Amino acid sequence: MAKAASKNNLERILHNQGFGARKLCRIMILNEEITVNGEMCDDPSAIFALADLQFTVKGEAWDYKEKSYLMMHKPSNYECSHKTQHHPTIYSLLPHPLVERGVQCIGRLDEDTTGLILISDDGQFIHKMSAPKHKVPKVYEVTCKHPINDEQLNHLLSGVQLIDEASPIAALTCIRITDKIIHMTLAEGKYHQVKRMVAAISNRVEGLKRIQIGELKLPQDLKVGEWRWLNDDDMQALSNKHK
Ligand code: URA
Repeated sequence: MAKAASKNNLERILHNQGFGARKLCRIMILNEEITVNGEMCDDPSAIFALADLQFTVKGEAWDYKEKSYLMMHKPSNYECSHKTQHHPTIYSLLPHPLVERGVQCIGRLDEDTTGLILISDDGQFIHKMSAPKHKVPKVYEVTCKHPINDEQLNHLLSGVQLIDEASPIAALTCIRITDKIIHMTLAEGKYHQVKRMVAAISNRVEGLKRIQIGELKLPQDLKVGEWRWLNDDDMQALSNKHK
């Protein structure tokens, strides 16, 4: 793997961080619209160490990030693709430079599903978190149309046969929260998996929210539609489950 550069010139730094074509970055620098580590810099070729670099673009503060790792509390009525069909894209909730950097969400949630979604531009991380062989567990809060009885709960735990699947699929855990709400943990991320599994026990999903990935829980203070950078504790919580 290529070693990441430890220094770069300002024009390239801004370009790599998603602030547009190099020509545009150069113009912003020459227009005195950029500060670096607290001081205005109008030299596009000025060299800066990347570690702990802080900069502002037109007054907005940014920390230099070699790669982007984010979480979002996905709202309902948003789609997880860049080219959407019926609803706005979740990427419209992110600052434009992050989208320019080519961030992708890691596994998609349905347009009517809410909750925790991870977003990154690190291909290795995306693969590690999404490849079926890593089996990163995901916990969903499932609100069903009808009360869920013990027999149905046990059926989810022992495995339900879905159309187009070779063998039955079982939930890792299934905890009843109220008569109609369960917390269900899945090891796979198959298309509409929760909805199909719940339909297979003759019930129906009325509300679906992802509340945990690996050991990372959706933070209570992350409001619907908000995003934030993953911190070291978050990354640790994600790596605990797929050693
Ligand atoms: N399972 C579903 O049915 N939908 C989702 O969005 C996620 C898991």
